[in-house]
Formats: sequence, structure tokens, C-alpha cells
Amino acid sequence: MSNQFKAILLLNVLFFICGCHTKTRNKEDAFINNLLSRMTIDEKIGQMNQVSWGDWNDLARKGQIGSALNLTDPVALKEMQRCAVEESRLGIPVLVSRDVVHGYKTMQPIPLGQAATFNPELIEKGARMAAIEATSAGIRWTFAPMVDISRDARWGRIAESFGEDPYLSAILGSAMVKGFQGDSLNDPTSMAACVKHFAGYGAAEGGRDYNSTLIPQNELMNVYLVPFDAARKAGVATVMCAFSDNDGIPCTANKFLLQDILRDEWKFDGFVVSDWASIAEMVIHGFASDSKEAAMKALHAGVNMEMVSGTYLSNLKALLEEGKVSISQIDDAVRNILRVKYRLGLFENPYFVTNKDVFYAQNHLDIARKLAEQSAILLKNTGQILPLDSNTIQSIAVVGPMADAPYEQMGTWSFDGEKEQTITPLTAIRDYIGNKANVIYEPCLAYSRDKDPKGIIQAVSKVKQADVIVAFVGEEAILSGEAHSMADLNLKGAQTDLIEELKLTGKPVVMIVMAGRPLVIEKELNDVNAAIYMFHPGTMGGPAIADLLFGKAVPSGKTPVTFPKMVGQIPIYYNHKMTGRPATRKEILLDSIPIEAGQTSLGCTSFYLDAGFDPLFPFGFGLSYTTFEYGTPELNMPVFGKQDILKASCTLRNTGDYEATETVQLYIRDLVGSLSRPVKELKGFQRIFLKPGQEKTVVFELPIDNLAFWNAEGKNVVENGDFQLWISTDSSIGNPIHFKVED
Ligand code: BGC
Repeated sequence: MSNQFKAILLLNVLFFICGCHTKTRNKEDAFINNLLSRMTIDEKIGQMNQVSWGDWNDLARKGQIGSALNLTDPVALKEMQRCAVEESRLGIPVLVSRDVVHGYKTMQPIPLGQAATFNPELIEKGARMAAIEATSAGIRWTFAPMVDISRDARWGRIAESFGEDPYLSAILGSAMVKGFQGDSLNDPTSMAACVKHFAGYGAAEGGRDYNSTLIPQNELMNVYLVPFDAARKAGVATVMCAFSDNDGIPCTANKFLLQDILRDEWKFDGFVVSDWASIAEMVIHGFASDSKEAAMKALHAGVNMEMVSGTYLSNLKALLEEGKVSISQIDDAVRNILRVKYRLGLFENPYFVTNKDVFYAQNHLDIARKLAEQSAILLKNTGQILPLDSNTIQSIAVVGPMADAPYEQMGTWSFDGEKEQTITPLTAIRDYIGNKANVIYEPCLAYSRDKDPKGIIQAVSKVKQADVIVAFVGEEAILSGEAHSMADLNLKGAQTDLIEELKLTGKPVVMIVMAGRPLVIEKELNDVNAAIYMFHPGTMGGPAIADLLFGKAVPSGKTPVTFPKMVGQIPIYYNHKMTGRPATRKEILLDSIPIEAGQTSLGCTSFYLDAGFDPLFPFGFGLSYTTFEYGTPELNMPVFGKQDILKASCTLRNTGDYEATETVQLYIRDLVGSLSRPVKELKGFQRIFLKPGQEKTVVFELPIDNLAFWNAEGKNVVENGDFQLWISTDSSIGNPIHFKVED
């Protein structure tokens, strides 16, 4: 085929696709405009109202519910929908919503744990299965993914995030959107996703939830908005604005975000929902004098649907009559809402078929187990104590408040998960061992905050008899998530004492931490022989950890956030700026400072006298039972033009005894910019499976375009100059190679 012929063929195909797309859009627009032309102002405002309580059927009949939130009884749901479809004047269906954040019935690891898998394909499958379960209960809209960049472990909602990195959050958030929404929104097993919280909520000052943020434009554009843009490109149907105010403007009334960026620049055509009562709360913020003004400001900014506070329902009509809002603003909002309902196929198919068989279906349990397994991060393994040999162990002690806590291991946002269906580590270890060895179980503490040492004292003599002690510590589910910020990140209750006492037994101790955030565990780590971190792992957390402990699976999780040594280091994240005086790691720390030391004798660099500079664990860190050897990275050329594709490759060899997966990470640094640039930025990662002794060449293709950033002139461009590149096992090590970008 000649090139010319190929080009003509390609053009024809493109025209055909565009033609079909235009036809679909025309049909969609015609339907929506026709419906809109028949709606009264009250019916329009009704569509903009999301309700969470009240006389559902009556509201539905009157056309006053655009969306229902948290109505879960299937019979009541169907009746409400029947009232809307059959008894309201225009029969517009209600969009049923709920927070399906990391599973509906089958609970997967919390999103921070999912991020530790660095596995977008698996996360997409997890979201798909959540959608299959939730839609069979009538839910067609979920409030996920949350892609708020989280650099502060004090913030309880770090649990719901994909961590600190914009690139990782962008890739994983998009995967979740695809999983929830499926191949087509129109499929009855698809849910509209909602990317949240637009924007910057994770930067809450001091990590205290709902607090103000102070994010300058550069950080907003280059860090916080990156995953939202990616979710939009992945076709996310809805966006939720944040509770917080940035630089004095609540996100609920932020025209720059909701209009200039979202609509004008990104051409988003779904709808924007407020957060829970965030319109009414602008009065409390001191940004509106009453709920009427709050409604006006939110509509002007571009909030289309109001979650629960009803200020639109009570005020928009009067505001319209007074000329303070326009009919076109209302029409635009309603059009956006109807468009999503149309795309979901709700007008043709407003009801759902209850199918409880999909709850905890075997393939769902398998996906949840894989996610939990891949989310586990091996932090320490002195003397290769792990994996344990179930054939030689005569007796194993399973201890700690998280060993058999089925509710707690599901984590935050587990409204519909059932603890009766959750398999705990204790159950899984007993199943695994069978009668091959003796399992001694001693919770020692009744729950993670328990301060009573009685149980520890009683347990010590018993657990001493075991060959190995596996201690499950961490936090209960309620200690992370929304409104659950924490100023102290040490293990709660008497858990540190527990670990200390276990160490004194002289037996090998393996510590498993199950928590909603990175906790400060330096001391405990020193006291144990091996440690695995699992962000709350969900329904199948038990079998996953048993597989890992006994070597049926090999840990492959990597930290999606930097782990601090001390709370005072927060915010601590790998992609910080260089400063003019970076730490050298040769600085003199607290205990070595001579008495009456001279003012400038300690090193005039950027570090803490007590904590130094380095974190406990860097971003991207995670050990394996095997070892990997990285070759020196190579590039396809030393100098690149703006249109080029950089190819970076590196050999990876499994030099240990176990077949295992390594997440190979590609980082770059833009050495000089019109704005100071991060010391490292993740730009690619791949999970590579290798048998012992096997070697592969790992190749990354990075379009130079991907090095663009929002620069000093407010333009998203790649700036010419020198760059460094690393291919590495985590964000802290490896030797860089250099390349240049020129016009
Ligand atoms: C949270 C949202 C959530 C909404 C509905 C709010 O409090 O901030 O993330 O989707 O409630 O439950």
C-alpha cells in the first residue's frame, strides 16, 4: 500500500469516526435541548438539587431531586425512581449516588494501599468490580477517585489518596475512572466517576481537615491539578469541588478553577457537584453573608449541583427574578447534569436489576486479594527471616490488636463492606498452617488505642514458647479518613510497649503494620527483625498477608508517600525543590554537637538538628525477598528536540532466589528552569517480573513533551536546557545520566 493511499484511508477512517461522534453528540444535544425547553424553572432547579434525607417519593414526584445520596434500601430506591419516572411531570430519572471508594461489598485496600501496588491495570479491575457490585444495588454515581496530592500524613484523608506524587496519582486516578465507567457509561454496570476534591484540599494547613490552603499558582498548576487533568482526559463524568479555601477563596466559589481551567481550558462537559453542604458553609467561611448569597456565588463560579444543603432549591428562583443570576447559567448547569444522565442511559433504563450474586463473587475476592498482596511493602527483613518456612516452624505466635480485627482492616469509607465477610490474618494464618504447627494467639491489646498493659504482661510467657512472633499493630479504621486528622503519628495505646516486650523475649519478631497513613515507626522498626506495611488491606487482607509471610507470594509494594522519621519533618516529600543550601548529610546532629559550639559550626544547610534531612523511607521504596541489580541506564541520543521521544533503557537482573516483581522507576530532573524545579520527578514506572537469574532490558519511552511545566510566563512548555535521568528502585538512589533539550 503506498503511503499516500494509507494517508487517504486514515483520513477516511477519521472522518467516519468524527462523523459518528458528531451524530451522537447531535442526538444527545437535541434530546437535552428538547427536554430543557419543556422544563419549568422549578424543575430546572430541582435537577440541581442532591438530597440525602426527606420524603424521597414526594420530592421525586415534584421533580425536586436531581440526585439521591445514600438511599440504599433497594425497594425504597426503586419506588423513588418510579415516582420520578412515572409520576413527575417530565419523568426525569434520579441519579443515585454513594461513596464507593475502594469497593462496595468486597472491600479492596484503601486507595493509599492501592497506590502502593503501582499497578494501574489491577486498580482498573478493582474499580470495575466495585462498579459491578454497586450498580447491582442501584448506584450509578460514585464519589471517587480522590486525587488530592497528599504530602501530610497528619491529614486523615491521605488514606483516600494515591499519595504525594502527581504522576502516580494521574495514572492511578485515570485507571480508576476507566474501571468505574467501563467501556461505556451506558452499560448498566457502569457508574459515573467523580474526581475530587477540586482543588488543593490535600494541602490543608497543618494537616487539619477542612483547613485553608495556600497554594501558589506554580504549585497548583504543576502539582495539584495534574491528576485532575488526567482524570478529565480519561473521560471522568463529574467533578466535586473542595471544602477548603485557597488564598481566601473557597473552592466552591472559585471561578478560576471551575470556569477558566475546567471549562474554558480543559473543555470539561460533565457536571460539577459541590461537596457536602459546602455551598451553605461559605456563610461560615465568612465568604457570603447568607445562604442566598452563597448560592449566587456558587452558581456564578460554576457549581452545577448542590450536595444536600438546599440553598439552590430555596434561593435560585428569587435570585433569577432579581437578576442576580441568569437563566443561561441555570440552563448550562441543568444541561451538564442531563448530559451525564443521558450518557448513563438513565432515560431509557432508569431501573436496576438487584443481583446479590455479584457480591463477594470469587473473581472479586481474587482481585481484592491480589491488590492487598501487591499493596504490602516490605520495609525490613534482617537475616532474611521472611518468608517463614511453614514446614519447619513448630509454633507461631500471632499477636497484636490488628491480628483479628475484621472491621478495622477494611479501613475508612467502608459503608457497605461487612466484617463478617472479612478474612483476618489470624484466620488466614490458621488456615495456612492447618495442623502443621501450633498457632498461639494473644491480642495483648483489645484495640489499637488500648493503653492497658495487662494483656501484654499475661501474653509474654506464652508467646515466648513460639519459634517466631508475628505482631499485627497499626490504627483502627476510624483513626484515618475524613475529619480524622492526627497531630501525633506514633503507634497509639500501648503498642510500642508491646513491641518492646516482644523484643525482650529474644524470639524473632515480624511486625505487620495496618494503618490508614504512614505512621512514625522508627523505634519499633529497630526492635523487630522484619516489617511489612499494609495500608488497611480490606476484605482479603488476611489471605494476602499469609501468602506473603509464608512465601507463596513475594512483596512488591512501594511507598506511595514518604515516611517521616518524626512528625516535625512534615510536609516531607521527594519532589521538593533544591534550595540554595541543600543538606549534605554530613551535618552534625543533636547528640554530637559540642557544648558552646560556634554559631556556624554545624553546617549552614537545610536540615533538622534532631531529624537530619532524610525520611525514614523515601517515596518508591519497598524491598523484596529477592534482590535486583540495575545496570547503567542508556539513552537513544544525548540531545533531544521538542518533538522527539526519549528512549531510556536499563538492564534489570534478579540476583536472588525468588521469582518476584520489581517496580522500576524513571525519574528526571530539569536542572535549570524559569522557576526552580523539583529535585526529582517521577515520569514512568513498570512492574517487571523476573525469575531467579533472569535479566531483562527495561525500556521507557518518554515523549519530550512530557517534560513540559507551567513556567514563569504562565505557559505550559518544555524549556531548553540540561536534564538528569535516573532508572532506579526508589526515589532516593541511583546515579543520574545527562541529556539536553534544544529547539
Ligand atoms: C466528603 C466527600 C464525599 C461526600 C459525600 C463529604 O463530606 O468530603 O468526599 O464524597 O461527603 O459523602
